[in-house]
Amino acid sequence: MTTIDSRHKVIPAGWLLFWILIITSWWGGGTGLAESSDERTFVGAAACKDCHATEFKNFTAYAKKAHSYSKIKVMKRELTEQEFRGCFECHTTGYGQPGGFRSEEETPHLKDPGCEVCHGPGSRHVKSEDAKDIKRKLNMADCEKCHSPERIKTFNYKPLVFGGAH
Ligand code: HEC
Ligand code: HEC
Ligand code: HEC
Ligand code: HEC
Repeated sequence: MTTIDSRHKVIPAGWLLFWILIITSWWGGGTGLAESSDERTFVGAAACKDCHATEFKNFTAYAKKAHSYSKIKVMKRELTEQEFRGCFECHTTGYGQPGGFRSEEETPHLKDPGCEVCHGPGSRHVKSEDAKDIKRKLNMADCEKCHSPERIKTFNYKPLVFGGAH
């Protein structure tokens, strides 16, 4: 019998605001006007496979993220539709953002948290193959979107930022 802890059941409204702040500051720091006409969207981890075979292989084999949708799916029956959708923000790729996860049926390639939860939406990068079009340097805020600050503080941050990836 699986149970859900209270942190998971009650999704604080603050997270929504937090997301909005993160996204606004991120886009705000980008190249400005050009951004809106050529918005970056999510393509899913499989789209990175051909060019980054090693990262893809390691991520798929070892990161729990790569299979995390199944963890919320088994709990679906115990949850209301609204509660279930509340899980998407952290257990899928790009939910609530342009071109992000919508549902398992509509966007199956985005159902697990993939490369882009850390590296950002990859549509432009997969076409340009330009390093400038993808985020490489990550910091604590990138993980805190999903990993609570309290949890992170209990770790030494440095090793953690390279964890759960590849
Ligand atoms: C068609 C090939 C191609 C695809 C598909 C591709 N990349 Fe890349 N990627 C590259 C190339 C080329 C570089 C630049 C390597 C270099 O400069 O050393 C790169 C660099 C990167 C970097 C490092 C950026 C930096 O600043 O050094 C990251 C992170 C990255 N890719 C992530 C991804 C992710 C995530 C995806 C899938 C959404 C992806 N790539 C898909 C070709 C690709
Ligand atoms: C704010 C982000 C966030 C939300 C929302 C969220 N989770 Fe999680 N969940 C995580 C993180 C991060 C982990 C990884 C374990 C950890 O560090 O707590 C996790 C782990 C899990 C696990 C795996 C536990 C294990 O030991 O394998 C299950 C199951 C789970 N969550 C279910 C849910 C369900 C069901 C919902 C919706 C009701 C949900 N989560 C909503 C962030 C979230
Ligand atoms: C949990 C976050 C996370 C996820 C998920 C993730 N990465 Fe990374 N990735 C990182 C970090 C951290 C670095 C190191 C950045 C630096 O150089 O400081 C990195 C670096 C890279 C680089 C640059 C070369 C290198 O190894 O340093 C590539 C390419 C890359 N990632 C591709 C991918 C691909 C493809 C996926 C999905 C299959 C993926 N990443 C998933 C966090 C992540
Ligand atoms: C979109 C939400 C999201 C983001 C952003 C995110 N994670 Fe996670 N991460 C998860 C979820 C969900 C799990 C739990 C997967 C499971 O157990 O099913 C997880 C699991 C992990 C784990 C457990 C070990 C493993 O093998 O997966 C580590 C370590 C981790 N993440 C590190 C990071 C780091 C470091 C960053 C930032 C660079 C980061 N994560 C960003 C959602 C996220």
